[in-house]
Amino acid sequence: MLRYANLQIIMLNVAVYFLLVLAVDCTVPSKRFIVEVDLPELLQRLDGLTSTVNDLKLQNADLLRKYDYLQVKCNHPPVAFKAHLTSPISPGANQRIIFDDVQLNTGNAYHRHLGGFLAPLNGTYLFSVSVCSDNGHYIVLDLMKNAGLIGRVLAGDSVYNDCSSDTSIVELNAGDEVYVQHHASSGDYVNAHQNILNSFTGVLLQIL
Ligand SMILES: *[C@@H]1O[C@H](CO)[C@@H](O)[C@H](O)[C@H]1NC(C)=O
Repeated sequence: MLRYANLQIIMLNVAVYFLLVLAVDCTVPSKRFIVEVDLPELLQRLDGLTSTVNDLKLQNADLLRKYDYLQVKCNHPPVAFKAHLTSPISPGANQRIIFDDVQLNTGNAYHRHLGGFLAPLNGTYLFSVSVCSDNGHYIVLDLMKNAGLIGRVLAGDSVYNDCSSDTSIVELNAGDEVYVQHHASSGDYVNAHQNILNSFTGVLLQIL
């Protein structure tokens, strides 16, 4: 009876031993699984995240550059003017037309005493000249940039009063002058009434 009980205890011990061996055998492969399979995958994901972060840093630097560029482009004072000739004239050859009644001069780039616009900034500008003559007369005016021609307007009719206009878009460097002058001695009469029948206007569209 005692012997039988001892045998039972020995068999129980053997069973526990095998269970322990099994437990050890089960834990070792799962540790190896983490080391051999998960770690490379984690490193790969880390590489992916690192390159995403680097991409975002590049995109951020690019956006900051664009922002700086737009700050410079947009944060300039507005520039625009409109002026009229108040009395009719019969200009001499190549005489500059002084549009003396200044209605608008945002940025003060139109100089009334010169009859000219001085570009305050490098940029693209739009100018328009509008002029009328009387029946039986005509007039030809040139829009000038420094000493060069950038536009021309001809108004005149033998029977009717006649008006005409010209619009030009030009690139100017800071300091360039734009003004209107009689084209040689072509024509002889510019009609004028205050605020109507003629005008010289300009606006800065975009700095360059
Ligand atoms: C304006 O343009 C001229 C000629 O292209 C250049 O030399 C000058 O540096 C420019 N000025 C500014 C303020 O960008």
